[in-house]
Parts: sequence; C-alpha cells; structure tokens
Amino acid sequence: MSKNYSIAIDGPAGAGKSTIAKALAKELGYQYVDTGAIYRTVAYFLDLLGVSPKDVDGVERYIDELTIDIVYDEDGKQHMLMNGMDVSDEIRTQDISQKASLVSAHAVVRDMLLDMQRDVAKKYNVIMDGRDIGTVVLPKATVKIFLTASAEVRAQRRTDELIAKGQKADFNQTLKDIQQRDYQDTHRPIAPLKQAKDAVLLDTSNLDIPQVVAEMKRIIGEKISL
Ligand code: DC
Repeated sequence: MSKNYSIAIDGPAGAGKSTIAKALAKELGYQYVDTGAIYRTVAYFLDLLGVSPKDVDGVERYIDELTIDIVYDEDGKQHMLMNGMDVSDEIRTQDISQKASLVSAHAVVRDMLLDMQRDVAKKYNVIMDGRDIGTVVLPKATVKIFLTASAEVRAQRRTDELIAKGQKADFNQTLKDIQQRDYQDTHRPIAPLKQAKDAVLLDTSNLDIPQVVAEMKRIIGEKISL
C-alpha cells in the first residue's frame, strides 16, 4: 500500500495556519484537517453541560458521553459532529477558544483525540494544523512547518477576522486572549506547543497570504514533488 503524504503545520493562535493550510490543500489536492476544531468540540460539549474546562474530575466523568465525528463535505470543508449534531459554527467563539485551550491540557482529552487524528492521516494525504502535530500526532510527517508571527500581528489578524464575520472584537482584548492562550498552550505538561526539531520555522509577521503560500510551497517542494 502506498503511504500517504502528511504536512504538519503547528504554531500559535492567529499565525494564519488555517487560512494558509486551506489554500494549500485546495491547490495540492490534499485533505485539510483542522485539529483545533476537535478540541473546540470537546470544550463546547462540556460547556453545554456546565462543566468547567479546568475541572479534571468533571471532564473525566463526562467525556465518555461524547462522540465526535469529523466529516468532509463535497467542497472538502470540515464539519464537526458532536453526538451527531453539526456544531462547526458554534465552536468559533472567543469563549470557546479559551475553553478549548484549557480543556486540551488534560491527558484524558488528548488521549481520546490522538487516534482520531492519526486515522484521518492514514486515509488521506493531509495538511493538518494544530499545536502538537509535528511533535506528537504525526512525528513522521513528510513535511513539518512551524508557522508563527508576533502576538500583535496575530491579534490584529484575529480582530479583523472576527469583525469580517460580524462578531464584536476589540484589539486589546484579543491581544490579551492570544497571550493567555500562548502561555497555556506552551506551558502545559502534555504535548505543549513547541517547534519540532525537524520543523522549518516560518515567521509570517511581515508577509501577506500569497507570500506565505509561496514560501510554504517552496518548503514543501523540497520534500514532495509538486
Ligand atoms: O487552533 P485553534 O485555535 O482552533 O485551537 C484551539 C485550542 O485547542 C488551542 O488553544 C489549543 C488546543 N489545541 C491543541 O491543544 N492541540 C492541537 N493540535 C490543536 C489545538
């Protein structure tokens, strides 16, 4: 059986991972996998039950009642099913971003989601983005890229994104949220956000989207013939 290619993109919130990965996936004919959406689905489920994302006993008590399915529509768009219900839009709030970051620190949550992510990579050529893809989920990924940008640039991008979606957004609050998530995601003991030793670092602070896509294609092209 021929082995699939996998492109792992890790980095902090707002670095442009999903925008870039989606564009590349379309161009290369790969399946884009947004792993943050899976943690967000767990956070949303617990939130509906009134369980604090910090309450490890509560998380352990209720997690078995959650079934998550990742499905892709004909346009390749990823949908998250929480016990059969499509919650793809509901998980995209600032509140759920913070809760997903907290809930993702628990071993029981990370263990539950690990095989789910690896199974997708077994089925398709994937571009998978997250925090621990190159370090933990797909340590043998064909290409690993660590995408980052200054916290201020990321906060500005996130603010613009939320406003474009018609949501309320304040730059200073968004910057605080991003800095808090950066701290939580990099300081947790299990699978923290960090650059894999064999990942290529790409700082997008001074690059626009077409420039990042071009640079990523150059990096990928060194490992895979495009
Ligand atoms: O990529 P995102 O902003 O949708 O991710 C939401 C949170 O989920 C993030 O702050 C940390 C967690 N996460 C993780 O721990 N590991 C991943 N591979 C992806 C996301």
